Amino acid sequence: MTLERELDALARRFSPEARVTVLTGAGVSAASGVPTFRGPDGLWKDFRPEELATPEAFARDPKTVWEWYDWRRQLVAQCRPNRAHDVLALWSRRYPSFALVTQNVDGLHERAGTENVVRFHGSLWEVSCWSQCRAGSWLDMTVPFPRLPPSCPHCGGPLRPGVVWFGEAIPEEALEATGRALDCDLCLVVGTSSVVYPAAGLSAQARRRGAFTVEINPEATPASTEMDLALPGRAEDILNSLERLL
Ligand code: APR
Repeated sequence: MTLERELDALARRFSPEARVTVLTGAGVSAASGVPTFRGPDGLWKDFRPEELATPEAFARDPKTVWEWYDWRRQLVAQCRPNRAHDVLALWSRRYPSFALVTQNVDGLHERAGTENVVRFHGSLWEVSCWSQCRAGSWLDMTVPFPRLPPSCPHCGGPLRPGVVWFGEAIPEEALEATGRALDCDLCLVVGTSSVVYPAAGLSAQARRRGAFTVEINPEATPASTEMDLALPGRAEDILNSLERLL
């Protein structure tokens, strides 16, 4: 079937009362200039995750870890949401049962106006005290930090970025919200390589619960054959074309 026909058929599933859940990854922000992780110019080509994105790496060398996160904050601060973010923000206002679960820590969904974003891997713009002198994380938009690592205003110890590092658990709140979101009619998986778990297993869970699952990605992923529909293309183009049919 042609892409046009598949989009037509998919658009017919978007009834006003449809429960729509969208799972996103780094590919959604690629058109905004935010590097992906595993693409040809991906972050993991030049940087080693085990040296920058684990609690062990931070314990060993918080300054180097922060240099990387401060660089990413400065980069993302220059970026703007693209058409993919905008269409999803539109849907979050149009469909009463809409949920967006993102692996992205860049905050571009929120900047596009999407409400109630579930941040499965945390946020670049949140910080917390490494020594946990007090619970929870808080927003800090300082770009760049004058001193690295930045200090906790309460105990003076180092702050840590509010992202979920490899080997760390997904925040309970995000897990619970995601669990609810997987009870849906339509589950779109947009711009993720589907190799990092538990995020990579979410669409299969939604499918087992009866959702029609769709992948949007210019490349095939390990999850492509498990989807009801795999649409080869860029998020900003496919979501734009789909929105035109709604
Ligand atoms: N539109 C849609 N998809 C795109 C686009 C685009 N314009 N450009 C690239 N992609 C796809 C790539 O083909 C790839 O499959 O986006 C995917 C990006 O994959 P990764 O770089 O692996 O990013 P992601 O899946 O979000 O990574 C998951 O891994 O490193 C950790 O915590 C980090 O959240 C991240 C997690």
